[in-house]
Amino acid sequence: MVKLLQLVPLFLSAIPVTILARPYEKVFHIATLNNHHKNKDGVSTIFDEMNTDARITGVDEDELRLIQLDEDEPPKWMTVGERMDLYRKKTKFMDITDYPDLGDSYKAAERTRRQFPIQPQFQQEVESFINQLTTKHMEANLRKFTSFRTRYYRSNTGKESSNWLYKQILRIVEDAEDDVDVSVRKFKHPWTQSSIIARFEGSDPQKENEVVIVSAHQDSVNMWIPSFGRSPGADDDGSGTVTILEAFRVLVENGFKPVRPVEFHWYSAEEAGLLGSQAIAQDYAKEKKDVVAMLQNDMTGYVGNKPETFGVIVDYVDSDLTIFVKSLIEEYAAIPYVDTKCGYACSDHASWRKAGYPSAFTIETDFKDSNPYIHTSNDVIENLDFNHMLEFAKLSVSFAVELSYSN
Ligand code: BES
Ligand code: ZN
Repeated sequence: MVKLLQLVPLFLSAIPVTILARPYEKVFHIATLNNHHKNKDGVSTIFDEMNTDARITGVDEDELRLIQLDEDEPPKWMTVGERMDLYRKKTKFMDITDYPDLGDSYKAAERTRRQFPIQPQFQQEVESFINQLTTKHMEANLRKFTSFRTRYYRSNTGKESSNWLYKQILRIVEDAEDDVDVSVRKFKHPWTQSSIIARFEGSDPQKENEVVIVSAHQDSVNMWIPSFGRSPGADDDGSGTVTILEAFRVLVENGFKPVRPVEFHWYSAEEAGLLGSQAIAQDYAKEKKDVVAMLQNDMTGYVGNKPETFGVIVDYVDSDLTIFVKSLIEEYAAIPYVDTKCGYACSDHASWRKAGYPSAFTIETDFKDSNPYIHTSNDVIENLDFNHMLEFAKLSVSFAVELSYSN
């Protein structure tokens, strides 16, 4: 009997991955065919655009998602199976099925472009906060956060991990002194895992609509068996999640009173094509919110065997904001940066860019030296360095303080 049991993993590994992965995916995805995808005669163009050599089975043919692979290319309809293949081939994509017109109503061109400061200006305030950052809470939080089997956005454990995270944020908010005006809410989606938004109100009523955002994504994925494969996602993006949580904790506990409102966002469903951040960016664009700047923290914990640096993403970002982010690193962090690229739709900053808002993105190293274990069961805490995360927490604090106070 024991011998037989030992054979089970062998047997499972012999089954093609697609057979294991797809039936579970199938349950969740429903075709959404709408009018944008009809040509001028009203005839559907979906099937012309479909990649016909893909593995489309009879059942899967209905499960179509609208996928964007580049900024200037028209989106393509793909099956969920094809979408999962993109992933394994490390092709980046944005699933725009539910947000085809993101930001169309409120593009950057309609708004006055604001200039970012040339240099950091609030050293005393920033330093009083960053001196309080420690690795202690990040470590404990990441241990718990990676203990959920997966944080896949449609899974039960993805919902449980999100509820756990919400409670940690709530506890920080509840303990805040009366004069710290901070709140937290869930941003619900049509899938199980919510995004979370914590907000400091600003002191200047005239700047009430001008929001500064610091963000990370809370979901994880096992690329071979998305819905229930073990996916600790310690680095991707448990690291960013606990990094910005530490920045948030220190700001709350030390009485941060911003001038402009500052928000911390923990997105759901980044790994499914930036779904959570697109939903929120679309909502903010519809509400005509003036997002001053957004900084994404996705993978902040891996150093590997190269000298420690920040990787500052320079493609598909706001270049002026990125210059300012570099000046913050020079002023407040203990390590240098290198310029690096991540490609289109690499993380949630792309949703804000698409909606017409300035966004920036920093990662743990040069992209080519980043964590090789992501999207597998081996993305574990043991590969990470909490002191490295601390440097990103310093950057998040300085970003929030400087951009909220500046004119
Ligand atoms: N965390 C990764 C992006 C990343 C990779 C950052 C390596 C830094 C170093 C992100 O969660 C991711 O996997 N993105 C996908 C695209 C997404 C839309 C599915 C990717 O890069 O393939
Ligand atoms: Zn990620």
